[in-house]
Amino acid sequence: MKSRRVQDGDIEGILAIQAACPEIAQWTAWDYDRVARDEMAGWVGEEDSGIVGFLVARKVVNEIEILNFAVSPNARGRGIGAVLLQDALSWGKTFGAVQAILEVRASNAAALRFYERHDFRTVGRRARYYNEPPDDALLLAANLA
Ligand SMILES: CC(C)(COP(=O)(O)OP(=O)(O)OC[C@H]1O[C@@H](n2cnc3c(N)ncnc32)[C@H](O)[C@@H]1OP(=O)(O)O)[C@@H](O)C(=O)NCCC(=O)NCCS
Repeated sequence: MKSRRVQDGDIEGILAIQAACPEIAQWTAWDYDRVARDEMAGWVGEEDSGIVGFLVARKVVNEIEILNFAVSPNARGRGIGAVLLQDALSWGKTFGAVQAILEVRASNAAALRFYERHDFRTVGRRARYYNEPPDDALLLAANLA
């Protein structure tokens, strides 16, 4: 697996992974076009078969926010998510970000375990933040400094 920044031709592959991941925000092609145009930072994991994962983040003052992140269901558990997350955290460190933050569905136990293993801690909860299905959001944060 090789990881690299998102390019124009990646959008279809990203949308195919997103469609298989009801846990994440369902963005449009237009949203990912903004990523390809560097309005947000994005990485894809790529194998010979095509794109197997993606992560989108943005800089918010002295923090980075992870906005959308998924690995293809049949490619999970092989460290692809860890590589994409490290790419984003390393990017944050290049401009002195002190913290990484994100929101995750409170029911998303696999993602919560994954983030815990990468030193994120729960710093807040937004009741009934999500619809379809309704769920609370947990706000997680990890120190980068
Ligand atoms: C969270 C997510 C991106 C992690 O991606 P990943 O490539 O599976 O991550 P990794 O392989 O680096 O780590 C997964 C962990 O689960 C374990 N695991 C084993 N089999 C697994 C499987 N079939 N599925 C998921 N995790 C598995 C891995 O061993 C690993 O544990 P470790 O860190 O102790 O080694 C992925 O589970 C996913 O896309 N989930 C759905 C979308 C989502 O919830 N996104 C986050 C929303 S904020």
